[in-house]
Amino acid sequence: MSTLIVVGAQWGDEGKGKVVDAVAAQADVVARYAGGNNAGHTLVVDGRKIVTHLVPSGCLYPDTRCVLGAGMVIDPDVLAKEVASLQALGLLMRDELRVSLHAHVIFGFHRDLDGLREDLAQGPRAIGTTRRGIGPAYEAKAARRGIQIRDLFDPPTLRARLEHNRDALTPELTRLGREDAISVDTLMAAAEPWARFFEPMICDASALCHGAIRDGKRVLFEGAQGALLDLDHGTYPYVTSSNTTAGGVCTGLGVGPTAIDAVWGISKAYATRVGAGPFPSRLDDAVGQRLREVGGEYGATTGRPRDCGWLDLVALRYAARLSGMTGLCITKLDVLAELGRAEVCVGYEDGVDPGRDGLANARPVVEVVEGFDDPGLAGALAQARTFEAMPRAARVYLDRVAESVDVPIALVSIGAERDQTIFVQRPFE
Ligand code: IMP
Repeated sequence: MSTLIVVGAQWGDEGKGKVVDAVAAQADVVARYAGGNNAGHTLVVDGRKIVTHLVPSGCLYPDTRCVLGAGMVIDPDVLAKEVASLQALGLLMRDELRVSLHAHVIFGFHRDLDGLREDLAQGPRAIGTTRRGIGPAYEAKAARRGIQIRDLFDPPTLRARLEHNRDALTPELTRLGREDAISVDTLMAAAEPWARFFEPMICDASALCHGAIRDGKRVLFEGAQGALLDLDHGTYPYVTSSNTTAGGVCTGLGVGPTAIDAVWGISKAYATRVGAGPFPSRLDDAVGQRLREVGGEYGATTGRPRDCGWLDLVALRYAARLSGMTGLCITKLDVLAELGRAEVCVGYEDGVDPGRDGLANARPVVEVVEGFDDPGLAGALAQARTFEAMPRAARVYLDRVAESVDVPIALVSIGAERDQTIFVQRPFE
């Protein structure tokens, strides 16, 4: 096995960054396939916190090639800043990063639209986006007026595309209160240094991944966001504008499904969500608040407090199906142990089915998990470095999750530091 997809199995923020970082130590290539800087991956190395939004979490290893795929939307200023700050930490050598010529560019007017729409949206129309311009950039792509990285190197095409966008978007921007938001000349001037910045990094990401797989290299495909934010299969319309599930790898990187060996889905030992939309197992009480505090549940990208709730086994089973998961990674088990109480959602009233009925009317049926009220649990868990060494309550909990979702446990994370990661399966053979 030489290829592995790592995807979020909830609403994002599952701790993918940490898992990818752990697996990337054994990978030759780490490639992102969807989303943009709406993502925020928090990594803790030797007590130092590093947050990346665009650069794959594999960037911490000197010999790992990092790739941004065609399915992504990239804000050049954000990427340039991120690359500079990683390099200042001695972490990302310029030659490590490659960017697909087919990825789409986020411009200021995409961000303006995203923010203005959110400001003015009322009731069910408000999505609670990250305001990073993600939705408008994907809209432009689907409308076939999007601007790809390759267009930055072709000024006449770039100008024509920008004019097309100006004509298409000015009426809405004006209605929302922004006149003259799109000056083609200003944007052409801004794009010049972007072309210089991208020049050494551009690539055919599909060919790069194929070449690596053909040469027997280990390729890790890094998901962003989570299954329930998938544009087609998530809690629509409260989703992001890309395919976050494993299928997104094939379209976003130009890699066929036959090249995929394994899929690991990441889930917290509980559940969180930011932005609007259904969350059946949400806790609107003091327990939910305590989960937020103990787990530090504030957005890595926007700083927004995350809603917290119990692990939803029905939604997790659905997510496992969507991505064909072969392994489950459970993160933040230490938080649940410290909380001193654990419950899981084992079903919805009236047999609501996430795929058929959606989650808007799902009322959870929860069960208490035994053993989490033991005051010694958190301390005992913190000592464990193998699955077998974990306290019994933790093992019983993990077995229950695996059995219910019908996917074996691949990895368990019991803290933010690298050595607090317990591998149960090997990521690559
Ligand atoms: P957008 O992706 O900024 O358009 O936001 C759409 C929805 O996805 C909002 O509810 C966001 O809060 C959510 N979202 C987008 N990216 C992430 C992420 O990386 N983690 C968690 N939620 C996200």
